[in-house]
Amino acid sequence: MGPGKVPAVAPSDLPPPGPASAPGTNALVTAAPGVVRTVRGTVVTASATAVMGRSSPPPAGTPGAPRSLPSPTPGPICGFPAPTDTVTARQLWGQERAITGNRQTGWTFADAFVAEDEALLWARDQAHAAGLRPVSPATGAVLRMLSATVDAKAVAEIGTGTGVSGIHLLSGMRPDGVLTTVDTEPECQQFAREAFRAAGFAANRARFIPGRALDVLPRLADGGYDLVFCDGDRMEGLEYLAESLRLLRPGGLVCFEGVLADGRTVESGPQPVEVVRLRELVREVRESPELIPSLVPVGDGLLCGVKR
Ligand SMILES: C[S@@+](CC[C@H](N)C(=O)[O-])C[C@H]1O[C@@H](n2cnc3c(N)ncnc32)[C@H](O)[C@@H]1O
Repeated sequence: MGPGKVPAVAPSDLPPPGPASAPGTNALVTAAPGVVRTVRGTVVTASATAVMGRSSPPPAGTPGAPRSLPSPTPGPICGFPAPTDTVTARQLWGQERAITGNRQTGWTFADAFVAEDEALLWARDQAHAAGLRPVSPATGAVLRMLSATVDAKAVAEIGTGTGVSGIHLLSGMRPDGVLTTVDTEPECQQFAREAFRAAGFAANRARFIPGRALDVLPRLADGGYDLVFCDGDRMEGLEYLAESLRLLRPGGLVCFEGVLADGRTVESGPQPVEVVRLRELVREVRESPELIPSLVPVGDGLLCGVKR
């Protein structure tokens, strides 16, 4: 079935949660009126969206209310947990557990914060069916915001997948902007092409290039791009970074999806070479004199840098 003919989404129709889901923690979240979806995470209930409309936090103990924490000094601010930098070593045990829980809730809330339309949900379903991991809804929303922030006319994407990130990027770009998207799998790009069409983008808004990123990127124009989004082979991040710095105009943005590798990037102990490579990438972006860096904790970690 094509993306224009998607039936109403029922929880039972949705793909299983991605590998980042905590076991047994699927929550039902009302992402938009009438749309009930499972999303990654825990604790958040259907009242999460309703909280957005409130001018003040609901009383503690009601659904959607901020969780009350064992109170450090100073106490909760305006009903919200105190900032994490007030946690002292003595309080860590209880505090860490509670803060982790809140962070999980925050991620779930962020994923439900901007509702995805049917074309996006269709592209997401195709990704799961193909065994791919598309960007999370919150990561997509950040990508959309960033491409709007740089008023992107030209964006390069490594890793088209089935088009989830592409739709978000196109949504934030200028109406005449063109997304150049590279993937080794032309079949995936065909799904993305359908999804872009279903999302209402004219065919000339996207240029699909099949092939390996490291073969294709050298053919793209120096300084010709406002944003480069990297979501291809995690082993090649450093090479993508070098190419991105060449492709970007001053003030342009490079973004890398999945740099936290489900938390393994920041865990101690031996890690697979893929994680070691991600650590090198994180360090390189942080220390590059050519970039203003930020690691945005959405999805599986979105590493960003603005080219000076
Ligand atoms: C995680 S998926 C991309 C998901 C997509 N960005 C989205 O959010 O819908 C990674 C994609 O990168 C592609 N890929 C893997 N290695 C690649 C390479 N060396 N060059 C280009 N694409 C590659 C895979 O075929 C796959 O479609």
